[in-house]
Amino acid sequence: MMDWTDRHCRYFHRLISPNALLYTEMVTTGALIHGDRQRFLNFSKAEHPVALQLGGSNPEDLALCAKMGADHGYDEINLNCGCPSDRVQKGRIGAILMKEPQTVAKAVEAMIAAVDIPVTVKCRIGIDEHDSYEFLDQFISLVKNAGCTNFIIHARKCWLQGLSPKENRTIPKINYARAGEIKAAHPELNISVNGDIKTVKDVQEHLKTFDSAMLGREAYQNPYILAELEKAVFNNNDIASRIDIARAMIPYIEQQMKDYGTPVKSITRHMTGLFQGLAGAKKYRQLLSTLPHMDGADANVIEVALEGFYS
Ligand SMILES: Cc1cc2nc3c(=O)[nH]c(=O)nc-3n(C[C@H](O)[C@H](O)[C@H](O)COP(=O)(O)O)c2cc1C
Repeated sequence: MMDWTDRHCRYFHRLISPNALLYTEMVTTGALIHGDRQRFLNFSKAEHPVALQLGGSNPEDLALCAKMGADHGYDEINLNCGCPSDRVQKGRIGAILMKEPQTVAKAVEAMIAAVDIPVTVKCRIGIDEHDSYEFLDQFISLVKNAGCTNFIIHARKCWLQGLSPKENRTIPKINYARAGEIKAAHPELNISVNGDIKTVKDVQEHLKTFDSAMLGREAYQNPYILAELEKAVFNNNDIASRIDIARAMIPYIEQQMKDYGTPVKSITRHMTGLFQGLAGAKKYRQLLSTLPHMDGADANVIEVALEGFYS
């Protein structure tokens, strides 16, 4: 998720969940080919397994960037066909590509030829007035015929005009059944469902129909749900407590500050929801949202925020 799931966020989430597959923010082919490639691609080995999400439509460029990602050690390359923002539409990136399934098929074919790791596609169930089962099925079928076997379906359509990206995550109605019809029609495909999944129970329910579930906002705002999912989905009872996780970030923050001069707030901003739902969470959040902005702030802000949680 743009501006959210950067490498610091992923490092933090990995401490909570050893098993979840994590995704980068969307990185455009333009940024990788013409921009500061290392900045966009670098990540810590501790983050594995991690998928690099690309935004683009030119098959050669996407193949080149997929190769960069694979060479950099990513475990999967994902193509974004779900982002409705105006800016990306103009670059023929994101959800607008659902109107051009042939382009996506060509891109996917080129990416698959360029790398040995899975190439996956994240899409919506439709865009604008194109919201029929047939439209989605045609998109999935063409991309499947190009060799893609893994799809993440955000189970709501989006409007390319008139709604902001934020509104496009709430206003069009969620329709899990439509994504379920696709799974039923293509049982050999790996289909992950996404959209408004907020509880362990939600995930367990979706796993009756789908191969996996992707959590976006809930995982960011209430990250400890990932620990609960470790137990419930991955049968992993060896999960760290919230406090241990917060403390485990201290050496990471110190290292990042030392090696790259990373401001402490760039890391702690992802950690404010760790105690969500518990008494004391408000105080912890408040301290962790303010202290890191002060001059001279260092990793000790974590201990101070934890004291606030207990107080
Ligand atoms: C701040 C923010 C940034 C996002 N950036 C991306 C992105 O870069 N790529 C992507 O595929 N989806 C992106 N999304 C959409 C989410 O991945 C997800 O599809 C959507 O929020 C619905 O799932 P949720 O209800 O679990 O959040 C973003 C969502 C948010 C809130």
